[in-house]
Amino acid sequence: MTKIKVENVTKIFGKHINSALKLVEQKKNKTEILKQTGATIGVNDASFSVNEGEIFVIMGLSGSGKSTLVRLLNHLIEPTSGSIYIDGENISKMNKQQLRTIRREKMSMVFQNFGLFPQRTVLANTEYGLEVRGIPKEERTKKAEQALENAGLLPYKDQFPSQLSGGMQQRVGLARALANDPDILLMDEAFSALDPLIRKDMQDELLDLQQKVRKTIIFITHDLNEALRIGDRIALMKDGKIIQIGTGEEILTNPANDYVKTFLEDVDRSKVLTVENAMIRPISVNVEMDGPKVALKRMRDEEVSVLLAVDKRREFKGYITADDALEASKRGEKDVNGILKADMPVVPPDMLIQDVLGVISESPTPLAVVNENKLVGVLIRGVVIQSLASNTEEVTRDE
Ligand SMILES: Nc1ncnc2c1ncn2[C@@H]1O[C@H](COP(=O)(O)OP(=O)(O)OP(=O)(O)O)[C@@H](O)[C@H]1O
Ligand SMILES: [Mg+2]
Repeated sequence: MTKIKVENVTKIFGKHINSALKLVEQKKNKTEILKQTGATIGVNDASFSVNEGEIFVIMGLSGSGKSTLVRLLNHLIEPTSGSIYIDGENISKMNKQQLRTIRREKMSMVFQNFGLFPQRTVLANTEYGLEVRGIPKEERTKKAEQALENAGLLPYKDQFPSQLSGGMQQRVGLARALANDPDILLMDEAFSALDPLIRKDMQDELLDLQQKVRKTIIFITHDLNEALRIGDRIALMKDGKIIQIGTGEEILTNPANDYVKTFLEDVDRSKVLTVENAMIRPISVNVEMDGPKVALKRMRDEEVSVLLAVDKRREFKGYITADDALEASKRGEKDVNGILKADMPVVPPDMLIQDVLGVISESPTPLAVVNENKLVGVLIRGVVIQSLASNTEEVTRDE
């Protein structure tokens, strides 16, 4: 279900907004518009939808319009043109009261610099949003304590932010946002101020939490690896424009243009390639139809020494080797059931290559790729290594 819908939204800062808007309509870019009018394009004709329960990542370089987009979403600023819908309702058409309710109850924000009040305790910080909403003391304390408990911070509730590490402070920021029980979490560079290992812990924690609370999360980051780790989908912004939206896999496999490609250069391909991208067509034998002679002929034709065994429904049954097939053929056996081996590792197609590299290097046989019991492919060590190498090459070659 669509939670947030952004439709042709443009935000222009400065003077001469109308002439700048005309130039946006003529598809002029940010630099041209600045030169001609002096107006700064914050967001340029952005359209996208965010599904309920999704982690939607917005990335882009500094000044590309990420924070402006978030401020448009919680209506801290008005779009110059275009519409934003939350739960199907156009927020530009809401009155002040409705907007305040949306901002206080439907959305919570987690800030880069944590945004905690230094003179309030951890508990009082966590209660803040509830307090603003006028929730009675007892109830808000209960909710805040629950949120701190979920974040593993309850023992620290009476401490002050300065007594906590950066990671812990940000967990308080997250707990405060969740205490409100909003539908939507807006996180603008929320983890960027943390050092790398703590940052990774926070990403894990967010993913864990998301399993439990299923919020719709808009997560802004500069960091592609962070985006790939936590984003269900990623939108890439440049000069106020959204230049590509897709899953990490889609964007990496099919970058929309050279700009996107340069973004991807840093990324270790093995982190996002899945088994499906590296598997090859399996050469198989049908245990219900084929005997050793057919198997041997197929091995010769296809120049392989192993066949994967399936039944008529293509369910995976194991494998046979050329040596065994030859022996069985000499013994006059009519089928391959007597020589069927079962010790081939099985992996699902959507598993990450990085997670199967260990299995591949240990296994004397290739790996069977099996989806709902059906054999869909085979993973061969040499091909996997080659695909990792050639993918890296492809990304750099066009630059
Ligand atoms: N209040 C404002 N007044 C004028 N221009 C603004 C204002 N806010 C943002 N801008 C301009 O809009 C553009 C987008 O800024 P924004 O803060 O959204 O970028 P960002 O992607 O969040 O960057 P960063 O990664 O540095 O946080 C920039 O060119 C910026 O100068
Ligand atoms: Mg910003």
